[in-house]
Amino acid sequence: MSTSPSLNFAVAERPDRASDADRDAVLASPGFGQHFTDHMALATWRKGEGWGDPRVTAYGPLQLDPSAAVLHYAQEIFEGMKAYRHEDGSVWTFRPEANAARFSRSAHRLALPALDEADFLESLRALVRTDVDWVPATGGEESLYLRPFMFASESFLGVRPANEVTYCVIASPAGAYFSGGLKPVSLWISEHYSRAGVGGTGAAKCGGNYASSLAAQVEAAENGCDQSVFLDSVEQKYIEELGGMNVFLVYKDGRIVTPELSGSILEGVTRSSILELAKDLDLTPEERRITLEEWRAGAESGEITEAFACGTAAVITPVGRMVSTEGEFRTGPEGEGGPVATKIRETLLAIQTGRAEDTRGWLTRL
Ligand code: COI
Repeated sequence: MSTSPSLNFAVAERPDRASDADRDAVLASPGFGQHFTDHMALATWRKGEGWGDPRVTAYGPLQLDPSAAVLHYAQEIFEGMKAYRHEDGSVWTFRPEANAARFSRSAHRLALPALDEADFLESLRALVRTDVDWVPATGGEESLYLRPFMFASESFLGVRPANEVTYCVIASPAGAYFSGGLKPVSLWISEHYSRAGVGGTGAAKCGGNYASSLAAQVEAAENGCDQSVFLDSVEQKYIEELGGMNVFLVYKDGRIVTPELSGSILEGVTRSSILELAKDLDLTPEERRITLEEWRAGAESGEITEAFACGTAAVITPVGRMVSTEGEFRTGPEGEGGPVATKIRETLLAIQTGRAEDTRGWLTRL
């Protein structure tokens, strides 16, 4: 891993920028994933040559041949990060080195080329520097969501790792991921579908994992639920994760428990940050296997007092109802998050937004 970037993401094309009024209208109510900034960062990798052609250019459609390998064999990975504006106007992101490391692990699993941590970081800096006016004002919880991704852009229908790969970063002003804000989400317990299996791609952040979660998401919606929660693919007994978020259970004795990394669970940056922050909050973090039955029995006896989902996009979102073909149970107070989820959420956001001291060196200035 190099410490200084080898790619210079210079601004190659300046588009007609959104007017101040249009941008302000988006920033006043950004939603999630609907609006994009004026630019994107790009680079291309070719077998035998390595990475080249780094640039920041106008945001817009990418030209792809219909035979581009990604459209057929889904050789694709991505990351998600947030940039927050602090009180003094400076812009910071949270643990980007953890995302860069996971991007490398995902690239390895999907037989894509490695991108140096320094180049990954430089691409974020170049884009945020160019589109800095799109970073929401300080004071709220809005951020600029950064989405780096990499895919097989070679035109070729044979099944092998692509000889040409595109890396791209786009940015999107973001408010709450769920339209209900902090209202607890209901989970559909998926029986027909698993998200990932042993030896599969579950630990990688690749588009295919999210595609494979969607049929269960449809089932969830048909059953009046917001999200689906997946069980392990072997015994259909142990909790794994949601379609795009990890999950924690809160016990009345102060333990917070999350499923241990099984090889088919994504190692969320928010998940690992919560495990570290727990000690500051007098909570005892545990990573271990948790059965659905333990969750149900604990929720009914009152031993499990809250549950929450976590991820970069959703931060921390309380879980309320748990629904399956066999009936339902609930965890946590009706209509709002429990005190532990609320405290962890506030603590994490205070660090990310610069309202609390960053004692662990988790923030990087962009
Ligand atoms: C994120 O939390 O950043 C993700 O990539 C998950 C997705 C649900 C938006």
